[in-house]
Amino acid sequence: MIIRPAVLADIKSIFDFIKIIAVKETNNVISLPEEFSLTMLDQEKWVKYYTENEYSLLLVAEADDKIVGVLDFKNNSKIRLSHSGEFGISILPEFQDKKIGSKMIEYLITWARSKPKLKKINLSVFESNKRAIHVYENLGFRIEGQQKNAVQIAEDVFIDLIQMGMVL
Ligand SMILES: CC(C)(COP(=O)(O)OP(=O)(O)OC[C@H]1O[C@@H](n2cnc3c(N)ncnc32)[C@H](O)[C@@H]1OP(=O)(O)O)[C@@H](O)C(=O)NCCC(=O)NCCS
Repeated sequence: MIIRPAVLADIKSIFDFIKIIAVKETNNVISLPEEFSLTMLDQEKWVKYYTENEYSLLLVAEADDKIVGVLDFKNNSKIRLSHSGEFGISILPEFQDKKIGSKMIEYLITWARSKPKLKKINLSVFESNKRAIHVYENLGFRIEGQQKNAVQIAEDVFIDLIQMGMVL
């Protein structure tokens, strides 16, 4: 298994991966499959944003000749918030619980610490996602808040979002 920054040639594999995650991990991620019907040009813009911005990172994990994990981080565009940024991460179900997620986040932390401007990493996670919260706490992230009923998953079904952060 290797973890590396994404390149433009990964576009198709990344978007195929994201669509699979949106279907298989619908209980853990916000985006729905229909929200990924971007044109090729928009997909290219999306990837380029990460590969060309000094304070953004798009990571892929590869195993068995395919992408099995994706992590994306970008810092905030507002000047007074730009010392911090938020990341998202997903691993294919059959590759979960093999430490790939932890290794990708460790890569992010090392990368972020190499950028003097970056002082904090934030994230949001479904309150029900005990595995992800465990992984983040293991790596040093702390719970900073809980946004009630932040996600609506059905007509009368809501999930809280937990805010976590790590001061670098
Ligand atoms: C959350 C996720 C990124 C973690 O990556 P991963 O590679 O599966 O996790 P790791 O193998 O590095 O670590 C798993 C840890 O969680 C623990 N764990 C597994 N299931 C658990 C559960 N239900 N409750 C608590 N801990 C759990 C494992 O024991 C292990 O802990 P350890 O390191 O102390 O032994 C990955 O599982 C994933 O993509 N899940 C689906 C999408 C998602 O939830 N994304 C995050 C949205 S915020």
